[in-house]
Amino acid sequence: MRVLSGIQPSGSLHLGNYFGMMKKMIDYQEHQELFCFIANYHAMTSLSDGKALATGTLEAAANFLALGLDPEKSVFWVQSDVPEVQELTWILSNFTPMGLLERCHSYKDKIAKGIAANHGLFAYPVLMSADILLFQSETVPVGKDQKQHVEVTRDIAIKFNNHYGDTFTLPDPEIDDQVATVPGLDGQKMSKSYKNTIDLFLDDKPLRKQIMRIVTDPTPVEEPKDPDNCNVFQIYRLFLDKEQQAALRQRYLAGGLGYGEVKQELFETVRDFFAPYTERRKELLADKEALRKILADGAQKARWAASKTLRKVRKKTGLIY
Ligand code: TYM
Repeated sequence: MRVLSGIQPSGSLHLGNYFGMMKKMIDYQEHQELFCFIANYHAMTSLSDGKALATGTLEAAANFLALGLDPEKSVFWVQSDVPEVQELTWILSNFTPMGLLERCHSYKDKIAKGIAANHGLFAYPVLMSADILLFQSETVPVGKDQKQHVEVTRDIAIKFNNHYGDTFTLPDPEIDDQVATVPGLDGQKMSKSYKNTIDLFLDDKPLRKQIMRIVTDPTPVEEPKDPDNCNVFQIYRLFLDKEQQAALRQRYLAGGLGYGEVKQELFETVRDFFAPYTERRKELLADKEALRKILADGAQKARWAASKTLRKVRKKTGLIY
């Protein structure tokens, strides 16, 4: 099975990115054909600082590799190193009804927040469709916020296939119920734009500070508490197996558990969980040339796969004359 997903290099990674997408991708590399990329073209919709984008791209690559992505077992590249995706975006644009894009929640939410609409933001899902279809992806592991974009991809692919004959594989989003929407410090979806994230690779002090900011209710220490309505529990459970979750649940229900105490435990858990990866990340970032070489090799593999699809598409659409 061919699995593909991407991540934007706009700023630091958070637990939502890790559990919603990265962890699953890293697990997949053992048994599936994995395609994984850094979506730097997409990041341009929210980032217009060239230096920050360039630095962020290398950091995002180092993050993924440090967390366990193996470039020998997967195809791992930076989106803009495979410019074929832009040609396919244009071609697909001609099979994308305006209404389909106008209905996208992600676009509508951003406009509602007062972000000025531009064409890049509007066409974001078409570029994402090109990412997915160019590689004939079957499964796309994402968080719930990206589900609609994968559905748009299917719609565009169906339209194209109906017109020019079978060309693109129809992809399915893969969304794990347990981590479909990882909550942030305030219980809303964890997201950089809500400033409610717990970031990966932080030093102890800022990490602890973020965790201590998790919003809790005023139930006194001695009283029983409801784990299902507790932001600390909802985040903590991501690190626990079933038995550990049941044990923590019991402590909540029994009363006598202070939120300060459970936050401190969560802080130690997060810190210890990511500690081994932090070292590896430092090593990777210390040798940028080696990092660029890994990405260049990945891009070469990706271009090879991309050119196969694009050749077919160019032929069918009459671009080869
Ligand atoms: P990005 O960088 O915004 O997010 C990367 C992945 O993290 C998931 N995610 C979450 N999952 C659960 N809970 C959360 N709180 C949370 N926050 C983020 C996102 O759903 C995503 O899977 N458009 C994509 C990047 C992309 C892409 C693609 C993905 C570009 N082309 C092609 C798949 C296929 C995005 O939003 O990335």
